Amino acid sequence: MTETTNQKYKGRKLRRYETWYAPQDVMLAMKENKGLGEVSRDLGALQFRQKFKFGHEDELNPQAGDISGKVKYNPAMAQTALNGKFLDSMVLKTMIKQGEINTVNFTTNNVMLKPVYRVLTTMNQVEGKKDTYYFHLWTGKKDGGKPDSLFSKKIYVCTNPKDPSIDNKTTYSIEKFIHHKMSEDEAYTYNHSSKEGQEFVGDSAIAGDPVILLGMHVSTRETKRWTWQSFYWTENPDAPVFPSSSVMAAGRNKLNKKLESPADHYAVTIGYSMMSPALPYDGGPIDIAAKGVTPVYALNPYIEGTFTEKEVFPNQLSDYYKNWGAEGNYKKQFYIGNNDGITSNCMSCHSQAYYNNQMLDAAVGGFLADQYVNRDAPWFKGSVQLDFAWSLFPGFEPPPSKVDQP
Ligand code: HEC
Repeated sequence: MTETTNQKYKGRKLRRYETWYAPQDVMLAMKENKGLGEVSRDLGALQFRQKFKFGHEDELNPQAGDISGKVKYNPAMAQTALNGKFLDSMVLKTMIKQGEINTVNFTTNNVMLKPVYRVLTTMNQVEGKKDTYYFHLWTGKKDGGKPDSLFSKKIYVCTNPKDPSIDNKTTYSIEKFIHHKMSEDEAYTYNHSSKEGQEFVGDSAIAGDPVILLGMHVSTRETKRWTWQSFYWTENPDAPVFPSSSVMAAGRNKLNKKLESPADHYAVTIGYSMMSPALPYDGGPIDIAAKGVTPVYALNPYIEGTFTEKEVFPNQLSDYYKNWGAEGNYKKQFYIGNNDGITSNCMSCHSQAYYNNQMLDAAVGGFLADQYVNRDAPWFKGSVQLDFAWSLFPGFEPPPSKVDQP
């Protein structure tokens, strides 16, 4: 996915995943009634976004710490979303059926991504050193995972690979990261795009600023509950820190084709079920304690790692794992202690991607940490499930007009 292709944008060769579609491309094709091949692909100039603030406030001290991200669909997924007009909230509304659970459906060849970057702006520059930047690197799990000062260390990145201060301990060459220089258009969208006012303002990029790929969420529709994996840059790829492990790293060394540098510097975390052993697709409720299952944690430390119970998961018990009348006691299905980002699982939270008349075009409070979610859970009644794709939730992805360029 990160191999370099012959496709170029403003003179820069793009990596495979960069050539894939953004939800905004699909929205534009829908609006202009065009095929995906016919829409202008320079909309929003690869759609950089301002750094997220939501769930990351603690990382903002020092202020230059946070991430910038975007969503990508492979061509097949973009086509499925376009065919079904899944990014149109009016279409979703027509699918809502009183008392029933309806769903949109993706197909087995669909893949979705969420790459995250650190845009190294003057804010990250080391005083007196024009080609050296710093950022905070995840160094593993500490109790509770917060605050930032407890789980990260400052590292330095030199844009000059020959800089004598490079020691591969605290100072690294930028060549060790998948990186590029910001184009003028990317800098513009980075400075101007907006999403529900959830971004961190106060930082701005200019053309030429280095951008490093910090990590990437990757999800494929090969199974009904999708496969979930995430990659993040790590100091020692053979012995990566939580949520990856040496066992996962060993798997990576068994590949037929060896990973090339700098892709080989990224650790992986995987979530192929919510609990181990995997619990059924539907049915329930299930008494978790009686089942004796072990939670499967899968998260990207730079995205979900800092999510707190109070801020991101306040409704798990009040709205979901409670008594649902005659349908049984969902309280017993609640895994006590899994209530923050460090104890989360991609599949659980993405199970919750659903839409109904009570949450029309509003930010939701439906996020879950690592909990078992059955597809026919009572809270889905009268809703349309978004087939695990949160980006379909109206309002989550900014419309093309908000990721425009000058
Ligand atoms: C607490 C909830 C939560 C958790 C945990 C979570 N995500 Fe997401 N994810 C979201 C939301 C919300 C979005 C939508 C962001 C947007 O549209 O801007 C999203 C977007 C994505 C996307 C883009 C496509 C789409 O429609 O969802 C991918 C791929 C993705 N996440 C993968 C993962 C992976 C892999 C993990 C685990 C390593 C993970 N997510 C963990 C909430 C979560």
